Amino acid sequence: MEHAFTLAARGPAHGPNPRVGCVLLASDGTGLGAGWHRGAGTPHAEVAALADARERGQDVRGATAVVTLEPCNHTGRTGPCSEALLASGVARVVVSVVDPNPQAAGGAVRLGAAGVEVLTGVLAEQGERVLGAWLPAVRRARPFVTVKIASSLDGRVAAPDGTSRWITSDVARQHAHDLRAEVDAIVVGTGTALVDDPSLTARTASGELHHHQPLRVVVGYRQVPAGARLHGPGGELVVVRTHDPAVVLDALHAREVRHVLVEGGPTVAAAFLRAGLVDEVHAYVAPVLLGAGRAAIGDLGVATLADAVRLVPREVVPLGPDVLVVATPQRAATAAAGTARITTTSTDEER
Ligand SMILES: NC(=O)c1ccc[n+]([C@@H]2O[C@H](COP(=O)([O-])OP(=O)(O)OC[C@H]3O[C@@H](n4cnc5c(N)ncnc54)[C@H](OP(=O)(O)O)[C@@H]3O)[C@@H](O)[C@H]2O)c1
Repeated sequence: MEHAFTLAARGPAHGPNPRVGCVLLASDGTGLGAGWHRGAGTPHAEVAALADARERGQDVRGATAVVTLEPCNHTGRTGPCSEALLASGVARVVVSVVDPNPQAAGGAVRLGAAGVEVLTGVLAEQGERVLGAWLPAVRRARPFVTVKIASSLDGRVAAPDGTSRWITSDVARQHAHDLRAEVDAIVVGTGTALVDDPSLTARTASGELHHHQPLRVVVGYRQVPAGARLHGPGGELVVVRTHDPAVVLDALHAREVRHVLVEGGPTVAAAFLRAGLVDEVHAYVAPVLLGAGRAAIGDLGVATLADAVRLVPREVVPLGPDVLVVATPQRAATAAAGTARITTTSTDEER
């Protein structure tokens, strides 16, 4: 299963489909084939592993398929994996995480009914970690939400004249670009779109566009000007005319978005926090003092300290002169109690 996890982590972190790996083993433990899912529209891990075994001339009849997520039982962009496994003649299927997606689930039952021995829940906690943001997004039928803040040491994201470029260092900004390349959508309010004229692209260290570009989502009623950078090269621009974060997430869920990065500004970030729709906060803090200017987060309706939004710190990462603090709002942490933290970057050494 650990080998299957390693393979799963080779798949893309973004996209509507989960990262899944599969290993086919003979009864003496010899590897017969292995595969992983490379993203929506490409073969699922089980089918890729069966193809690998075929290419190597291996007979998988009576073999064991070890797979990180329950084989699907539906025809989506590709056919059901349960049928592919049945047709291959494997005798056992060992699964880590049971599929929470109601449309795809049922593979274990289908295989069991056809006489295949099925074992589920193997190293499930590790399996859930590999699935990352995908798992809570599918379980809750709404995208996983990460709020990103880049602030001065005194918690400000812009100087009094509105200038905000750049508070954090190149190292921190590159880290944030790498995170953009792993999410499905970036959200900002019209305030940020109008003041900063951002391009909201994911760029490499050399300044080129990453292969994957997240959707660029602007929330609010004002127009994005025709000449704005948001109309330039990058992900599709989506304007959601609302002030309700739940409406934004519904619209993105309908587009199969699993992981959203809310990049501000203070008004929109506060709206998501007030609505209890933030799963993780990434705060890049620079050793800069502004003394005045916009605070990172707008009004949260907190009048007294007892009402403060408390977060559980998960990770502290030094980034050049800056520091990244990854933290989970206490409410989200309580909801996820017992399950592992969601990381956006894999621990797999191959990534
Ligand atoms: N350093 C950083 O990390 C960072 C990141 C982002 C922004 N900033 C700075 O933040 C400043 C902009 O702040 P901002 O608060 O105006 O930006 P914002 O949060 O991006 O946009 C606020 C606007 O979005 C709309 N909106 C969407 N949802 C809303 C809601 N629930 N409640 C109220 N309004 C909602 C409203 O405009 P409509 O009237 O159009 O509906 C509102 O005026 C800029 O100076 C920018 O440089 C800094």
